[in-house]
Amino acid sequence: MEERAAWLRKEIGRHNQLYHDLDEPEISDTEFDALFRELVALEEAHPELRTPDSPTQRVGSAPLSNFEQHTHQVPMLSLDNAFGEEEVGAFCARVSRHLETSEAIAYLCELKFDGASISLTYEEGLLVRATTRGDGERGEVVTPNVKTCRGVPYRLSEPFTGEVRGEVVMFKRDFESVNAARIAAGDQAFVNPRNAASGGLRQLDSRETAKRKLSFFPYGLGAGVLAETQSGILARLNELGFKRPPDAKVCRGIEEIVAHLHLVQNERAQLDFQIDGMVVKVDELALQRQLGSTSHGPRWAVACKFAAEQAFAILREVSWSVGRTGVITPVAELEPVFVGGVTVGRATLHNIEDLNKKDVRPGDTVIVQRAGDVIPEIVGPVLAKRIGKVPKVEPPTTCPECETALVQDQGYVAIRCPNKQCPAQIHAKLIHFASRNAMDIEGLGEKQIARFLELGYLNDIPSIFRLSQHRQALVELDRMGEQSVGNLLTAIDLSKTRTLDRLIFALGIRQVGERTAGDLAKAFRSLDRLRKCHYDELVAIAEIGPKTAREIESWFEDESNQAILDDLVAAGVEPEEVAGPISNAFADQIFVFTGKLEKFSRETAEALVENMGGKVSGSVSKLTTTVVAGPGAGSKLAKAEQLGVEVIDEETFLSRLPEGVSL
Ligand code: IVH
Repeated sequence: MEERAAWLRKEIGRHNQLYHDLDEPEISDTEFDALFRELVALEEAHPELRTPDSPTQRVGSAPLSNFEQHTHQVPMLSLDNAFGEEEVGAFCARVSRHLETSEAIAYLCELKFDGASISLTYEEGLLVRATTRGDGERGEVVTPNVKTCRGVPYRLSEPFTGEVRGEVVMFKRDFESVNAARIAAGDQAFVNPRNAASGGLRQLDSRETAKRKLSFFPYGLGAGVLAETQSGILARLNELGFKRPPDAKVCRGIEEIVAHLHLVQNERAQLDFQIDGMVVKVDELALQRQLGSTSHGPRWAVACKFAAEQAFAILREVSWSVGRTGVITPVAELEPVFVGGVTVGRATLHNIEDLNKKDVRPGDTVIVQRAGDVIPEIVGPVLAKRIGKVPKVEPPTTCPECETALVQDQGYVAIRCPNKQCPAQIHAKLIHFASRNAMDIEGLGEKQIARFLELGYLNDIPSIFRLSQHRQALVELDRMGEQSVGNLLTAIDLSKTRTLDRLIFALGIRQVGERTAGDLAKAFRSLDRLRKCHYDELVAIAEIGPKTAREIESWFEDESNQAILDDLVAAGVEPEEVAGPISNAFADQIFVFTGKLEKFSRETAEALVENMGGKVSGSVSKLTTTVVAGPGAGSKLAKAEQLGVEVIDEETFLSRLPEGVSL
């Protein structure tokens, strides 16, 4: 009994932390409640078992103990909210009253990034510490994690000392690709980019943070001096090497503010990241100081919150989709509803825990939300509208596609269909193999694959390379014809020599996304060598952790996978071997590409520069060595000229490539 109580205390503590601090619950709320109730009952029956540190004695979670704590030089306050134009007007009126002026005051309107706030301490231009907001007074030191975020300079272009504050966000495209990779890898999908970002900052292993591809936008200073206006601070931060937050505008008076608010609202869906409003700040720091702060937040700023894009819909049923590694995910099938500018018929329920938590049932009226314009999701049921007694939706025990009994792998939360021949898995695997970031086989999309599978022309990955044996039959298919079959077969042929990293990614090994595939390609250089990989060699690669290493090793140990590789090689798949860096021609050089590039794509240019030891940056600073400007170059070109940074055109850039290297 004593042992059981001790075990429960430990387990509840661990789940509390997983839930509250790491945003990664392993069990459902119901399961958690059951553990908690068991401990309460045990302690009630045997009070001597109750310890002062028992979770029953505490509300909420223990402070995160894994990170060092740091007290902010200046507290990280919150912002007051204003809903609607009237409340913004009231804020402006308050500011004018307080400053006893009737003159139009300049406000800087900024995007309100929906992520996690962070404070970066720089000493003499060097990043020495990154701290989460915590309770506003003290936060957790998460420097190695923050160093993986794009837009966080390790060294500034000037010896600035102070604290830079801003928001860590996950771009929408990264949210989608990271989630797709997680589902494929058998991990839980993130519910929204904000959770993924804030959870990412508190990973104990910064390689896990890196996988989330987070980015940083600055929005101000906690300490230090850079300018006398908020707009000046953002401009200076940009000069120091930070991203320039888009759509920041100085507005005078409420009309201009409201006009900008409308513009931001209209542009919201097109932004690459989520925002949940617009922040209006008095621009002059002298006036900010005059206005001061309350214990809650500054009197000189307000957050205009946008109404969430939500709608009611009727849930027809919860269906279950099978991913390429067999992971089963719940999907809400809805009566179509218009929300956030599109008609939504299906919405994600993310994972089984999410379904349990929300507990939506067929026939329910549910709230649908376009999570920051990403993937439509279900917020929850409107319980008052539930009609009759519909039982809770339970996860299936057999695969909805092939009826194989589902399994839960050790160390994974997700349930999975273990049948490698499951048609849904094969379909998803083939889609992934042919997709743009993998083998990039044009013309072999989702529908075509479904059709060829049904007709028996495809049945596994290598069969793609045997499609030419069915040429005549394909030509005779409805809507195919000589030309499109010819194009498709050529595209398949072309894919045989894709680079090794693409092939590795395309194989769909659990835990192996694009980044890890790249790391493997660099380390092993050839498919032959990779095929014989061992756990020890894999964990020796800095970016690969034990869990991923085990997945990779066991994938290559599996004879059926080796047979797939044999088949691919026999069909002529011969990935380009990876060489070391081509040269060091651009070592220590930092390039910025701006304007329209006509001779090569930005991606190609970046790859070229990186292959030759150089770096590419998104903004011009004193550290920039060369700006490559195409037609229509604007502010970056002007900045380069102002700083005296060398500016060249595409032609000149190409002429600098070492002999033998071309696009
Ligand atoms: S200024 C003292 N500017 O919103 C004022 N905050 O609700 C400090 N946020 O904790 C905040 N975008 O994490 C400011 N452009 C922006 C922002 C922003 C997002 C977040 C920030 C803060 C929260 C306040």
